[in-house]
Amino acid sequence: MSELSPELFRKACGYWATGVSIVTTVDTDGKPYGLTMNAVTSLSLAPPLFIICVDNKSDTLEPMRRSGVFGINVLGLGQQDLSNSFAKKNPNKFDGVRFDRGHTGAPVLHGHVLAIECRVSATYPGGDHQIFVGEVRHISLPDPENAQPILYFRGRYAALGA
Ligand SMILES: Cc1cc2nc3c(=O)[nH]c(=O)nc-3n(C[C@H](O)[C@H](O)[C@H](O)COP(=O)(O)O)c2cc1C
Repeated sequence: MSELSPELFRKACGYWATGVSIVTTVDTDGKPYGLTMNAVTSLSLAPPLFIICVDNKSDTLEPMRRSGVFGINVLGLGQQDLSNSFAKKNPNKFDGVRFDRGHTGAPVLHGHVLAIECRVSATYPGGDHQIFVGEVRHISLPDPENAQPILYFRGRYAALGA
């Protein structure tokens, strides 16, 4: 068995192929927040639950704790620039970004492959991240026939079948 170094662990995480989402929330004053995420997964069917894992250093964390809502916007092919932009710190990330306010108030981005709006039902510490469990309140599947998600593998974006 190979020795577990931080470098090996980071590299191994890169081999975990995922989709890419922008997870959004809204502060109590209505200001939108969001970050690019791949630590997103379904948890339970009944009740319908999703979990997301947010870094303790994320600027989105406190607004999410305060409002108790989040939106998972699964990105489609062609939204790589949006993914890169939301993966950097910037207090004005939403400038020029097209979105609607969802049922929870959290932004639902235009062009998503799937949007899942949640209300936080539990939060747990998880190392240097916080685990949010969200009860699903609304789902939007705009065009399931043509939905082409972006994938993420070894630090690079990819398309299905590529
Ligand atoms: C593909 C990809 C996946 C990421 N997944 C996560 C994640 O699951 N959780 C997390 O906290 N940060 C994740 N990040 C890093 C955040 O997007 C990045 O730290 C961002 O600057 C946080 O923004 P904020 O501080 O404005 O919330 C990911 C970045 C990329 C490019």
